[in-house]
Amino acid sequence: MQPVLDMPTAGKRGLLERMVFRGIVFNMSWEDPEMDRRAFQITPSDTVISISSAGCNPLNFLCQNPKKLISVDGNPAQNAILELKLAAIATLDYETFFDIFAARHPSVVTRHYQSRLRPLLSDKARQFWDKKLWIVARNLYDFGRMGLFCRLLRLVFSQVGLSRQQLDAFFEIQSLDEQTKWYHKHVARKLWGPVTRAFVNFKPFLYLAGVHPRQFNLVDGRHDIYDYIKERVDYALTRIPVYDNYFLTVAVTGKFRGKHVPPYLLEENFDTLRKNLDRVQVVNGWLGPFLDTQPAGSITKFNLLDIFDWMTDEQFEGTLRSALRTAAPGATMIYRSGSYQLDPPPAIREHLEHDAELSRELLAIDRSATYGSFYVFSVKSNGNGKAVAREQSPSGSEGHIAVSC
Ligand SMILES: C[S@@+](CC[C@H](N)C(=O)[O-])C[C@H]1O[C@@H](n2cnc3c(N)ncnc32)[C@H](O)[C@@H]1O
Repeated sequence: MQPVLDMPTAGKRGLLERMVFRGIVFNMSWEDPEMDRRAFQITPSDTVISISSAGCNPLNFLCQNPKKLISVDGNPAQNAILELKLAAIATLDYETFFDIFAARHPSVVTRHYQSRLRPLLSDKARQFWDKKLWIVARNLYDFGRMGLFCRLLRLVFSQVGLSRQQLDAFFEIQSLDEQTKWYHKHVARKLWGPVTRAFVNFKPFLYLAGVHPRQFNLVDGRHDIYDYIKERVDYALTRIPVYDNYFLTVAVTGKFRGKHVPPYLLEENFDTLRKNLDRVQVVNGWLGPFLDTQPAGSITKFNLLDIFDWMTDEQFEGTLRSALRTAAPGATMIYRSGSYQLDPPPAIREHLEHDAELSRELLAIDRSATYGSFYVFSVKSNGNGKAVAREQSPSGSEGHIAVSC
């Protein structure tokens, strides 16, 4: 496995950000990998860059045999999860890997940590897991900010009279019609109301879910956040089959159901993951400054999650300029937003071809019940095979994400 790259940490982070976004925030990548797979159509000639989050989607990309996978995150605790998963793929058998990261028998991790996993970790990840391995041993999906959020969510469900048995029965429903009737009868009329509105409008509650303060303002500034969340949940629970929706089973029950898991946890992908381990570069650092160290035209797939919801307009433009310079002609960029519309800045827009139809089509299958918009762009080459030349990025390109705004 390639050694982890530590970028110099640029700039001072705001107080709120230091309080909320440290340690494990995302215990799972809350982004539907089926959307990314269909948008990217990865081939063995592709160099993919992705934000790590909990490492699930970078590993889902690795299952698709890219030439190289770069996984970047400004929060080293997030990369520590990815590193532990990579070490487990390298040293454990599939059943044990599944026991730990599908939380079937997670405590087995303590048996293998010192002898097999710890030796393959970076210093930062070792320091983290030496203290925090109990999080994985007890069930990763119950911890981290998001884990705490989901446990509170389950409390809300119990308060509005939704029993665990009822919810388990819900996930067994196979027909959308029956699912929709069940949702309206047993869930919607109990869930949506003043109690949930109070919870949703209590900002710290959503910070726990990993909603960045700037993202909260972006969504609430444009659409009442309660109505937005209700619309997204209504959609996911009435228009998308629930029986293989592992996002919702983890949120609602704290567990995966059988083999309804992310692709990287499927047995059929384990040997491929192990074969491709040397293709992975993990980077502790912010995306923009890292891209500025990469060769022009060297990257073909960019998975940018919803990081632009965390940024100022200046950082948004600066980061996309860095991406344009490193993009190979025809490269694909995808990102999501917690708002219904977040177009690239005009100065960048001209260099990108928007596949509006595919973006809409893929948003329509989103099982995560989270995003209001999804974007698939390809980078226009400037005709001589070279990607668009990059002007010097304004000083605002992200070093840090101040929460002062
Ligand atoms: C944008 S957040 C949102 C979570 C995401 N929607 C998910 O569900 O996984 C995901 C990750 O991006 C990281 N992040 C945010 N902005 C970043 C940036 N500019 N460069 C590198 N990492 C970034 C955060 O530390 C976090 O781990």
